[in-house]
Amino acid sequence: MHVLLTGVAGFIGYHCAQRLLKDGHAVTGIDNLNSYYDVKLKEARLARLQGHKDFRFVKQDISVPGLPRILEHEAGNGVTHVLHLAAQAGVRHSLENPRAYLDSNLAGPLGILEYARANKMTHVVYASSSSVYGGNTKTPFSVKDPVEHPVSLYAATKRGGELMAETYAHLFAIPLTGLRFFTVYGPWGRPDMAAYLFCRKIIDNAPIPVFNHGDMQRDFTYIDDIVDGVMGALARAPKAGDGKAPHNIYNLGNAHPEKLTDFIAGIERCLGKKAAYDFKPMQPGDVPVTSADITESTRDFGFQPRVNIAEGLERFVAWFREYHKVA
Ligand SMILES: NC(=O)c1ccc[n+]([C@@H]2O[C@H](COP(=O)([O-])OP(=O)(O)OC[C@H]3O[C@@H](n4cnc5c(N)ncnc54)[C@H](O)[C@@H]3O)[C@@H](O)[C@H]2O)c1
Repeated sequence: MHVLLTGVAGFIGYHCAQRLLKDGHAVTGIDNLNSYYDVKLKEARLARLQGHKDFRFVKQDISVPGLPRILEHEAGNGVTHVLHLAAQAGVRHSLENPRAYLDSNLAGPLGILEYARANKMTHVVYASSSSVYGGNTKTPFSVKDPVEHPVSLYAATKRGGELMAETYAHLFAIPLTGLRFFTVYGPWGRPDMAAYLFCRKIIDNAPIPVFNHGDMQRDFTYIDDIVDGVMGALARAPKAGDGKAPHNIYNLGNAHPEKLTDFIAGIERCLGKKAAYDFKPMQPGDVPVTSADITESTRDFGFQPRVNIAEGLERFVAWFREYHKVA
């Protein structure tokens, strides 16, 4: 395969590119290296990919008009698959900077779909999010559940991406697969996410803000399990049939939700240091529980999370110490 991978300097994109290259595929990576979080971390990830003979990086914003032509020129003719991971992530930031979500998460995917349409891609796999389940109270969250109540603009744009994908699969028979990721963590992770934030605070002796007074659960999923799921999905392009467009959506989660306070306790154990808690009320846009039903992803491409929280946190904290040169 030759994969056009958007968001390649991001957390999940970097790990997926590593795996694709290791498995002998070619990767053309796209990213605009925006400053939502420390650009040095994005550059450090990229530096580990550059130099690989089958990797090429193109610095490009995917939300610009005329993207299909730009990508055709930049990526050349050999691209067979698209792995679209670029997005403006983060639920809380969408309250402060809504426009970034419109650009990266709606205009961006539209350009990718148009590229796939013009270049007859074998398969396009794209990132969605557990946040589309929004205010749902039935757990675990199943891909069969209604997703009519996003509680943040981030979630609404991710759901919008799924709906656009359904339309393009229907109109132009482009095989498309959407993956709803559940709170991914691991080495080279995002500084705005729980594992990283908590680790930093504990090391700095700063109190950890714990929302909903600690009554939160997340289906924390280790990055290697997510990469396994993405690879499984990429290899299985959906087919049209029975009046259905060639478009499937799957959950990729650990299927084992953890209390936030237990997750923090896991980091404390790895660091050998206690956290200070700053209990706070629920934040607007947040949800108290995420929990994945992975029946369909297990059935269709053998998705099976393997890394438990204790092991995953140990690997994350080891990376954090090394990257930040913390003793
Ligand atoms: N990490 C998680 O827990 C999680 C959970 C659910 C869904 N997701 C989704 O998975 C995908 C990857 O997430 P991540 O955690 O790796 O995030 P990330 O922020 O680390 O990576 C996204 C990358 O996309 C790039 N990007 C953003 N807008 C762009 C644009 N307009 N043009 C070009 N590049 C752009 C960013 O610079 C960044 O490097 C995203 O679509 C995200 O919404 C992630």
